[in-house]
Amino acid sequence: MSDAWLRPELDGAVRPEERPLEAAQRPRTLEDFVGQQAIRANLRVFIAAARERREAVDHQLFCGPPGLGKTALAYVVAREMGAHLRVTSGPVLERPGDLAALLSNIEAGDVLFIDEIHRLHASVEEILYPAMEDFHLDLMIGQGPGARSIRLDLPRFTLVGATTRAGLLTAPLRDRFGYVARLEFYPPGDLVEILRRAALRMQMALDPEAAEEIAGRARGTPRIALRLLRRVRDFAEVGPDGQRSPVAGAPPESVTQEIARIALERLDVDECGFDRLDQMFLRALLEKFDGGPVGIETLAAALGEDRGTLEDLVEPFLLQAGFLDRTPRGRVATGRAWDHFGLRPPAPGEGQRRLL
Ligand SMILES: Nc1ncnc2c1ncn2[C@@H]1O[C@H](COP(=O)(O)OP(=O)(O)O)[C@@H](O)[C@H]1O
Ligand SMILES: [Mg+2]
Repeated sequence: MSDAWLRPELDGAVRPEERPLEAAQRPRTLEDFVGQQAIRANLRVFIAAARERREAVDHQLFCGPPGLGKTALAYVVAREMGAHLRVTSGPVLERPGDLAALLSNIEAGDVLFIDEIHRLHASVEEILYPAMEDFHLDLMIGQGPGARSIRLDLPRFTLVGATTRAGLLTAPLRDRFGYVARLEFYPPGDLVEILRRAALRMQMALDPEAAEEIAGRARGTPRIALRLLRRVRDFAEVGPDGQRSPVAGAPPESVTQEIARIALERLDVDECGFDRLDQMFLRALLEKFDGGPVGIETLAAALGEDRGTLEDLVEPFLLQAGFLDRTPRGRVATGRAWDHFGLRPPAPGEGQRRLL
């Protein structure tokens, strides 16, 4: 992603080097999956009912910002169904034949996970409609006047889709999912629990206050919380100057709130978890546009960023944390945003803000 350098620790997107770590940390069951109570409760019902009937569970779509657990949930659903999981993603399926090949190998009850499903090519999506709805594939054989279409029946399977941009999904695709779940940002208490369980798995002694410190700055996102935990552990193990060598055989150094604070400060993560792009966004809104309302396109142009990046990566958390409002006339900074930067809104008629 082009702005990755701006978000060294706080980008919710997964990095290639993190994939094996995430695989090891993934919750295995619905019980292991922390938070998102309403979604979990629904899934528990759908899975139990499908198992009872010995059927594949209905197709599911998981939406939400990066790092909230969409992929993790897909794995959990497959495991709870005792099903094989096949994993692919929208951009990987370039041609209808790619999806047809996957589908024609599918077995009864399998879960097919399509990540970034909003990026499916229209011609691939068309293959998916009858496969999801009536469990058959229409394949074109040959070309030109001799071309004919054959129909292939498929076993009942479950499609799980994940997307960060539910709004980009076509209506016919969205309508074919039996259950659409929107994952929410996690409250700090849930993140503390996720960190506690991760620390247990990593055999590290994490003080509860340190977990709270990390959770409070993780932008409501498990992936960010877990990433910060790994960085904080580095500081705890070898000290802030990297000089201390861990004593072989000694119990691991416990991670205290103080170490967590030092580490997070060194990582440029502020008390709200805002990184450079969040700060630039809010500062532009406050200082250049007197707190708004201002259109997202105008803000994007002022920041030299792409509108989609702001809408996907920056705004969701600012909205939910109460720093930003979306109004019909544009984006507006809240009182919290003014307070956070020690600024105050211009009085009516006064065109300029003042430093307090
Ligand atoms: N509710 C949760 N409970 C425990 N771990 C979670 C939870 N949600 C996410 N994680 C962990 O956070 C990381 C990111 O989750 P992931 O499913 O890859 O996010 P997404 O697919 O939405 O970008 C993974 O290591 C995952 O295991
Ligand atoms: Mg994912």
